[in-house]
Formats: sequence, structure tokens, C-alpha cells
Amino acid sequence: MTPGPGEVKQVRENEAQAEAAGDARAVIVRPSRETDVEAMLAIYRHHIRRGIEQDVGENGAPQPDELRDRRKNLRDTRFPHLVATLHGEVLGYAYGVLFRKRPAYRYTVKHSIYVHQAQLGRGLGRLLLGELIDACAAAGFRQMIGYIDADNTPSLALHQKFGFSRVGYLPGVAYRYGRWADSIMVQRSLGPGTTTSPPRSMR
Ligand SMILES: CC(C)(COP(=O)(O)OP(=O)(O)OC[C@H]1O[C@@H](n2cnc3c(N)ncnc32)[C@H](O)[C@@H]1OP(=O)(O)O)[C@@H](O)C(=O)NCCC(=O)NCCS
Repeated sequence: MTPGPGEVKQVRENEAQAEAAGDARAVIVRPSRETDVEAMLAIYRHHIRRGIEQDVGENGAPQPDELRDRRKNLRDTRFPHLVATLHGEVLGYAYGVLFRKRPAYRYTVKHSIYVHQAQLGRGLGRLLLGELIDACAAAGFRQMIGYIDADNTPSLALHQKFGFSRVGYLPGVAYRYGRWADSIMVQRSLGPGTTTSPPRSMR
């Protein structure tokens, strides 16, 4: 049976990654909580300032209430929203949203992943993306899609490692910091992918 939102795969320690992040046991990935919102926003704001984020509206970064609402809405549905923590401190987060609103697309999830700027290159992105893929598959999604800035070498490499294929190149779809930027669309299948129909209970 498909797990509910609160049951998204709980804490799975990954000792190799934890070691890379400076502690042999303590990095955990778990569903995000209301109390994680400020830390997630701080991580997000930094990446926006660096111009990495694609999805910045005219008003810049979302406010805490917006992120809180987004989190709550996700928790009301089957979308995983995960944080990686070390000794209780949020070092990164990753989540999925609906790829498109029309019902036909309900088995396809679009995801985002952010690691704290001081923790880059320590295995946290790998840990979070692996857990997010598992959680999305467990929630019954069959395809996973990401949009990555064409200049974002770390993210492109990370996604390639997890079996994402480059399925689209979108030239000039973003304008920020005085220039047009291209996006690359990446995709991978989850679970049985397209080899079986969705279970009756989910149709
Ligand atoms: C993309 C991101 C999540 C990667 O997280 P991370 O914790 O730094 O990555 P990891 O240390 O887990 O590295 C995993 C893999 O990613 C790739 N990678 C990470 N940093 C890299 C870099 N600077 N250059 C090239 N590849 C890199 C490598 O393939 C690496 O595997 P390896 O260590 O076996 O070589 C992180 O850079 C980030 O948060 N960036 C800003 C936000 C962002 O761009 N999000 C993605 C939007 S689509």
C-alpha cells in the first residue's frame, strides 16, 4: 500500500555520507517539520543571491509563511519533503511537487534540492537525492523531473549519477542578473516506470 505523507520513509542513516559530513553516525534524512522552515529559507536565500535558483519571482525569495504553507500543502498530499540534519541542524533539503496540475500527470513529480553553502561537496546532495528518489517511488510516482540551470555543473553531475537523462534543452527561459539563462530538463523513471499501469487504488 502507498504510504501516507507522514509515513514517507523515515530516517535512514548513511554512514559513509555522515562520515563525509564530519560525523560517523549523525547525519539523518527525515521528513521536514514546521520548525525547519527558517533554516530551509536561509539555505534557499543564499542560493538565490548567488543566482542559481531558477524560480525567483519579482519579489525575490519566498517569505517564511509562504514556505510554511507550501510545506503544509505538501504534507497534506503524497509529496515527500525531506531535510538532512546533523545534530539537529538543517544542512539541506529536497522535495517534490506535482509536475503539472492536470490529472493525467499525477504520477510525475518535479523536484528541487538545496544544500547549505558551507556544506557543499560533502555528500549531502547525494544522500538527499537518493532518499528523495526512494520516497517518491514509494509514494507511487513513476517519473521524476528536474530543471537545472545549464551552468550548474554540480547539479547536472549529481543527477547524472542518479540515472537522470537529459531530455530537454530550454534556451533563454530565465532572465536574471542581467542575462538570459538556459535550462536543462532531466528525467528518470521510478519503480516500474511505464512497464505497468498504476495500481487501481491510485487511478
Ligand atoms: C547540486 C547540489 C545539491 C549538490 O549537493 P552537494 O552536497 O554539494 O553534492 P555531493 O557532495 O553530494 O556530490 C554528489 C555528486 O554531485 C556532483 N558534484 C557535487 N559538487 C560538484 C562540483 N563542484 N563539480 C562537479 N560535480 C559536483 C558529483 O558528481 C558528486 O559526486 P562525487 O562526489 O562522487 O564526485 C548543491 O551543489 C546545491 O545545493 N547547489 C545549489 C542549489 C542547486 O543548484 N540545486 C539544484 C537545482 S536543480
